[in-house]
Amino acid sequence: MAREKILIIDFGSQYNQLIARSVRELNVFCEIVPPDISIRSIDRLETRGIILSGGPASVYQKGAPSCNPALFSLGIPILGICYGMQLMAKTLGGQVEHSPSREYGRAILTVTNHRLLFKDIPKNSTSWMSHGDKVKRMPKNFARIGMSRNTSIAAFANFDKRLYGVQFHPEVAHTEYGKQVLKNFIKDICGARADWSMKSFVKETIAQIRKTSGREKVILGLSGGVDSSVAAVLINRAIGHRLACVFVDNGLLRKDEAKLVREVFQKHLKMNLRVVDASNEFLGALKGVVDPEKKRKIIGKTFIRVFDREAKRIGGVKFLAQGTLYPDLIESRSTFGGPSATIKTHHNVGGLPKKMNLKLIEPLKYLFKDEVRKVGKELRMPQEILGRHPFPGPGLAVRILGDVTKQRCDILREVDDRFISTLKKEGLYDKIWQAFAVLLPIKSVGVMGDERTYESVVAIRAVTSVDGMTADWAKIPYDVLGKISNRIINEVKGVNRVAYDISSKPPSTIEWE
Ligand code: XMP
Repeated sequence: MAREKILIIDFGSQYNQLIARSVRELNVFCEIVPPDISIRSIDRLETRGIILSGGPASVYQKGAPSCNPALFSLGIPILGICYGMQLMAKTLGGQVEHSPSREYGRAILTVTNHRLLFKDIPKNSTSWMSHGDKVKRMPKNFARIGMSRNTSIAAFANFDKRLYGVQFHPEVAHTEYGKQVLKNFIKDICGARADWSMKSFVKETIAQIRKTSGREKVILGLSGGVDSSVAAVLINRAIGHRLACVFVDNGLLRKDEAKLVREVFQKHLKMNLRVVDASNEFLGALKGVVDPEKKRKIIGKTFIRVFDREAKRIGGVKFLAQGTLYPDLIESRSTFGGPSATIKTHHNVGGLPKKMNLKLIEPLKYLFKDEVRKVGKELRMPQEILGRHPFPGPGLAVRILGDVTKQRCDILREVDDRFISTLKKEGLYDKIWQAFAVLLPIKSVGVMGDERTYESVVAIRAVTSVDGMTADWAKIPYDVLGKISNRIINEVKGVNRVAYDISSKPPSTIEWE
């Protein structure tokens, strides 16, 4: 049976990932695709429906994104949201006007026709609007199905052709009946079976990995983080020891990291794991380097060198597996108006496939982070791995301000360990999105017993967040902060002061470098 899906055509709205999330919550798989997707590549058996997203442009504006008009005669149901609705109107012969009063925020949607799209939705309800333009004249054979105070045509439909448009955003939580609108579209109008689940994902993906890899060897850089760990276990289920996992100890890891990874993947899951101790190579290359971006570049390059060497040792490897997630994929090809500025060059192994001439296997590339955790649960992976906070590729190097030496790494490892273990003991670890310690390049005066000390200062950082794009500092209770500080200063030699970072992102970033 073909895997049914909904296509979301991306016109650059900041809410696109929310649309995707909402569709998947209805147990239907969906993909976000660029506006220039070719009609031929749309599988009519698989594609149950199409959603045209919102976007920041104006349909008559020069260079505004548009779509192939043939899309509207495929016979596939389409829902246009905001810009998507205006584009549908314009393409099919209606008229869009620039509205003098921009409608932004909550508005009352008045349903004028409750058939199909607005089934089970009260006459008046709150909806979320964010638009300057609006539909002035509908295309032929369209009927108005909703209005608001500012917009006489807030929703329209061509029931025969199954084409719908809404001016509001059903995907945002502020739209009271938004989920119901999407459900009506996907289940009733598109007739989706809605049988997509993590269980079916695991089954399909295992079959796919077997098919793609044939009898060849696959290599994967295992970091111990959630994404690469779940990818590794999934691929291991598919092809067993034909998958070689390489764990590179770069000397910049958390305390006992290599031990934990060995324990879980080698001992417990009996996977084919190679642990490479390359700490001297990394620390040697980082000697004397204090610039954060330089540190990242050096670590990236060194990683590629070490990994490549290990792949050659294994020999005959044809595929490289990576734990790439959907947001990485969407962001890297963002089409219109998406965030593009590189604030920090994030270290990933993007340079690897080119250099090593390997084909890619990315089994998680259509999943969001919480879906990856669900896959991990489905695969019965330990919570110790699945519930971990994110850890950056360059590791402690970007948490040690100034020179990165083994001695400073050792100090930070101990500090981090006291911090994290106290959070766990106090039941706070799972409530916090990310927590870590930072070693500062300054010393402060202290007093221990009768002795004057002159030792390092550390900062501790804990944030709450949804996706790491924005974050707030976590309100850890004072008594817990007190315990953390006491443990660090009493138990870690070389530290005599602890500061708590109370900045949010933006304007600060989560990491200090
Ligand atoms: P920032 O500091 O940019 O961090 O607010 C957002 C999230 O990204 C992680 N981070 C990185 N991850 N390589 C990574 O793999 C990097 O160079 C890097 N820099 C930041 C950070 O830990 C946080 O979760």
